[in-house]
Amino acid sequence: MRTQIVAGNWKMNCNLDESQHLLNALKQKDFSKADVEVVVAPPYTNLYAAHQSLKDSSIKISSQNINENEKGAFTGEVSPDMLKSVGVEYVIIGHSERRAIYAESDELLAKKVTAALKHDLKIMFCIGEVLEQRKADKHFEVVKEQLEKGLFHIGASDMKNVVIAYEPVWAIGTGETASPEQAQEIHEHIRKVLADKYNADVAEQTSILYGGSVKPNNAKEIFAKKDVDGGLIGGASLDADSFAEIVMSF
Ligand code: 13P
Repeated sequence: MRTQIVAGNWKMNCNLDESQHLLNALKQKDFSKADVEVVVAPPYTNLYAAHQSLKDSSIKISSQNINENEKGAFTGEVSPDMLKSVGVEYVIIGHSERRAIYAESDELLAKKVTAALKHDLKIMFCIGEVLEQRKADKHFEVVKEQLEKGLFHIGASDMKNVVIAYEPVWAIGTGETASPEQAQEIHEHIRKVLADKYNADVAEQTSILYGGSVKPNNAKEIFAKKDVDGGLIGGASLDADSFAEIVMSF
């Protein structure tokens, strides 16, 4: 069976105190009844403290980004080895905000994927179309191309360390969500693209998360869909009760 995952992408929110406060609140929650891997992605500055604070917890830590180089003159950047050394297990690569605001290209994302795998970091690889592409009925093509250009240079055996997050850009932070049917339809498509590129096994084993305005009141319906294996949560992950409710929607 595929791993079900609920991950909180905190984006550029929470200073150290706020981060510790949120983690403490999350540690009080009993996630044991949900058969779900819980992941949080605090900002870089809070990762080490998060690792210390979550030592006795099953909650895993992700970074929100990674640099593709080993080390050196890359002012302001954070290397795979640095992330590893502070207890990071997952990295988010290709979030639409990085693609759009920081102009991260498919080629760059492909390098980040290679760098993360080299350092035994698991990847949450984000894909998703913008509104114009959805309106033009191009979303199936768009996600396929994003996978081909950013991810498909890796071999089938590396896919066990990859989770895909489908996040339609028009649903991020907008309060608008894909309907459960829209999510299912495109997740099924993504799984087929994986089967065509790799094999049926890889397609069957790869967790595909939905992201985009997932809230406690819509998570259950979305997660109930056959090809939706969890969620990548933005805004609602900043509130321990909301995030826990989403986790418990499984
Ligand atoms: P929201 O849940 O705030 O829409 O954000 C989704 C997201 O971008 C998670 O990576």
